[in-house]
Amino acid sequence: MEEYPHTSKGRSRPFLDVTHPEIRRYLRELHEHEVGVFGEMEEFARQINYPILDSLSGHLISILAWMSRFSSVYEMGSGFGYSASWFARGMNGKGRVTVTDISEVYIEMAKKNLRTLYPSLDVRTVVGDAIDHLRHDSEVHDCIFIDIGDKMLYPEAGRVAIERLSDGGVLIADNVLWRGKVVEPEPDEQTRSIRRFNEELMSRTDMDSILLPVGDGLLISTRKRPLD
Ligand SMILES: C[S@@+](CC[C@H](N)C(=O)[O-])C[C@H]1O[C@@H](n2cnc3c(N)ncnc32)[C@H](O)[C@@H]1O
Repeated sequence: MEEYPHTSKGRSRPFLDVTHPEIRRYLRELHEHEVGVFGEMEEFARQINYPILDSLSGHLISILAWMSRFSSVYEMGSGFGYSASWFARGMNGKGRVTVTDISEVYIEMAKKNLRTLYPSLDVRTVVGDAIDHLRHDSEVHDCIFIDIGDKMLYPEAGRVAIERLSDGGVLIADNVLWRGKVVEPEPDEQTRSIRRFNEELMSRTDMDSILLPVGDGLLISTRKRPLD
């Protein structure tokens, strides 16, 4: 087996299941007929032990992309392009998706996967720190998706992302329940960082946010509009 960077070796067991295992099984069975290309990517992630977005969260971001007519999505932490492919599906294979990762190997794979699946998609690639890149990005985005492997970076990623959202733009973050570890009595550093991120977002009076117990926990947040 080839060596890939940033796979989760010995990922710790969940503290609590975010979704009851029976409910999760039921939901997955209902979606089974839709496996296709996403199933192949899920199988690849399993083989190399790489942490991708939960497939149910994938469906959700795809529907959000379609409902909100995203034309520019910026991903912070893209890996080989699984979550980006869900966004692109909801965007009908059009518009612009920026994929970022500190690993060049994954960015090359993401580019290849997206170009094969969605030839009309405008794919922008960034190898390096997504926070640093987004901070200096001249563009704003309809959606910014936070899925950086290092959870210590979440609070800073959140602050920078909010500044780069278009009017009515949507911030989405994965792993915000961190396999239930956010309610652990003695959380580790990464968990404390995710909690800080969640609390910062939820306490902002200029943002409307919800934390959904889908997959590993998905935060969806958008700037409030003044009432007429
Ligand atoms: C959870 S995985 C991303 C999974 C991907 N979003 C998906 O669902 O298909 C996290 C990725 O973040 C990348 N990463 C870690 N630190 C980063 C940083 N500062 N900027 C961008 N990517 C980073 C890792 O290399 C890893 O590939």
